[in-house]
Amino acid sequence: MTRPLSVGVAGLGTVGGGVLKMLRTNADIVSARAGRPIAVTAVSARDRPRERGVPVGGLRRYDDPGARPTDPAVEVVVELMGGSEGPALALAEASIQTGKPFVTANKALLAVHGASLARAAEERGVPLAFEAAVAGGIPVIKALREGLSGNRISAVAGILNGTCNYILTQLRERGREFSDVLADAQKLGYAEADPSFDIDGIDAAHKLSILAALAFGRPVAFKYVHVDGIRHISAVDIAFATELGYRIKLLGIARQTEAGIETRVHPCMVPASAPIARVDGVFNAVVAEGDFVGRVMLEGRGAGEGPTASAVVADLIDIARNRVTPVWGAAGAALSSAPSVPMSAHIGCYYLRLMVVDRPGVIADVTAILRDMGVSLESMLQRGRSPGEAVPVVLVTHETRESAMRAALDRIAALDTVMEAPALIRIVAG
Ligand SMILES: NC(=O)c1ccc[n+]([C@@H]2O[C@H](COP(=O)([O-])OP(=O)(O)OC[C@H]3O[C@@H](n4cnc5c(N)ncnc54)[C@H](OP(=O)(O)O)[C@@H]3O)[C@@H](O)[C@H]2O)c1
Repeated sequence: MTRPLSVGVAGLGTVGGGVLKMLRTNADIVSARAGRPIAVTAVSARDRPRERGVPVGGLRRYDDPGARPTDPAVEVVVELMGGSEGPALALAEASIQTGKPFVTANKALLAVHGASLARAAEERGVPLAFEAAVAGGIPVIKALREGLSGNRISAVAGILNGTCNYILTQLRERGREFSDVLADAQKLGYAEADPSFDIDGIDAAHKLSILAALAFGRPVAFKYVHVDGIRHISAVDIAFATELGYRIKLLGIARQTEAGIETRVHPCMVPASAPIARVDGVFNAVVAEGDFVGRVMLEGRGAGEGPTASAVVADLIDIARNRVTPVWGAAGAALSSAPSVPMSAHIGCYYLRLMVVDRPGVIADVTAILRDMGVSLESMLQRGRSPGEAVPVVLVTHETRESAMRAALDRIAALDTVMEAPALIRIVAG
């Protein structure tokens, strides 16, 4: 029989455990598709004796994950520990340095250090694979880098964080407030005890920076992604969105514009009829626009043991078959240096919800500020009358520049008739 491909796995949590299970359960088809068996021969985790739910007996164990690349018996290093620095980064660098293919599910590592790791991998001719890092089980890296590689991509966008999508879906379906839904999501294991990475949009921004690098053939540029999470989304905005024919989704959007590449993560009002508006719960979806293929949408599970293992094992099969593609789809010398466009230059339509004192002249003050800043209104909605009390007023703008909208918002927020911070949500075409 052909000699197995020997794999060392650092990290035996949700994803590491899933990879071990999948390689055992589907050993026959994995071996057929890889052209040789794939065998995990060494593992490491922080807490050695903890029960992992997968048999690790008979495998070499390392307390120091960094020892693995120097083990001559390990041919491929798989990093499933997490974190953009520390052991994960050290392992990536050591692995590439020693010429061993490196597979990871770690979007934080790639978003922050992807440009330098890709350069090192190219110099040494070492595969660096990361299908599991974006949208879990959805093969979006392969789709963008290989399946759509003949196209000029004008935009890639998606629901990239299942926790946020679950919370937004619950807000809409149950009509409850954000803090209650978040607490339930934590109890159910859909949100971490410290949920900030997810709900503040950082996780989605890591993934978007990777998608943008692949779509536009330029090194990953996380620091230019505009990030705004979902903490401020309230039940009243969800209800207004429904009334106006929209769904609120946290989207990551990367677009080629005349000025350069725009990358942003923020809550969006998406027309309820758009396919992506109907992607609910913990599901993820990615939409890409290519000049020849048109619009492509991929949907599936973006996290969890099975979906993420599916992506890691696909990378291992590629490595066993010697199928190697440059990290960002083209060699370093052929990558683009298109500039990043700041959010202030973004042009779009906006939903603005104010809580204003119900008395004559208040709306005139608000619309005068918008007029002064060159922001034109498409519609206005006021519900209920409660003289002297705060009532919600919703304004929907025509296309306007973000910088003008922000300046108008600062002035509106300073009016003494505006009772709380205005809610601003960008509207997308879907
Ligand atoms: N979970 C998902 O659905 C998912 C989806 C896509 C991508 N990812 C990515 O996959 C990676 C792993 O995620 P996960 O959910 O599997 O995490 P996890 O369940 O927390 O597991 C992490 C594993 O890494 C080990 N570990 C952490 N620091 C270590 C260190 N310094 N030295 C040795 N071992 C260490 C942990 O050891 P102990 O068990 O001893 O603590 C644990 O076994 C992350 O980069 C994550 O972003 C996860």
